[in-house]
Amino acid sequence: MEPIKDPKFDVDKMIDSVIDYTELFLTGVKEVVKSGKELEEKKFMTYWFSVMNSSNMSSQQCLFFTHLINELYETGFFRSPASIKYHGNYRCGLVEHSIGVFYYMVKFYREVKDLREKYSMFDIMITALCHDLCKIGLYNEVKYDGNTIPPSVKLDKDQPKFIKNNKRRSFGHGEQSIWTLKDLECKIKSEHSECDIVDIKFDVIEAIRWHMGRYDLSGYGEFEYDKAKRNNKLVLVTHYADDLTSSWDNR
Ligand SMILES: [Fe+2]
Repeated sequence: MEPIKDPKFDVDKMIDSVIDYTELFLTGVKEVVKSGKELEEKKFMTYWFSVMNSSNMSSQQCLFFTHLINELYETGFFRSPASIKYHGNYRCGLVEHSIGVFYYMVKFYREVKDLREKYSMFDIMITALCHDLCKIGLYNEVKYDGNTIPPSVKLDKDQPKFIKNNKRRSFGHGEQSIWTLKDLECKIKSEHSECDIVDIKFDVIEAIRWHMGRYDLSGYGEFEYDKAKRNNKLVLVTHYADDLTSSWDNR
């Protein structure tokens, strides 16, 4: 279901507010990360409600999102790191990274007219927040004890680090995220019938599938990726936002 199109709705103002809220939130997350604590659900919800309230999302989309966030808290998404050796390799790194991707995607959204005409803020939110759902439950936190850490992982004494477990199946990075998202979508819709009419677009799913761009290609995949990025503008935007967020840390 698409949001109601109100001719008086000021899209520029909405985008600027979303960018401001997101900058503020990311600064707060940095503090949480520094302290080594966990991000409180309340803090994330306050940010997310501000974003939702300033956007023109339908009430069903807002409801769906709220249920999705509750489900994600249950899965450990908000505690998880984004990687072991690279970006966000600390507690809450995954949510910091995902909202960082959202931040850059909104910046593209502000500049590219085609994106604004074709996609809603709901589409951008779902793509950014869910592109790395494959990382849920993938890393185990370890404490320094001198014995159980594999030699490849170098630890500072007081710093919690993570090791990869072998829960990842043979699906690729993007496909695994789609599977998790669709699983959560089914659960939410079966438990909350008012969310039934919420639609996650094919383009959103396709952008999640290809968000790694050329880092995730082999053989026939190259042809498929080129086709996807030509037909669906969200594909490149998601990939660039992901790359920018994981490569830069100086918003
Ligand atoms: Fe990512």
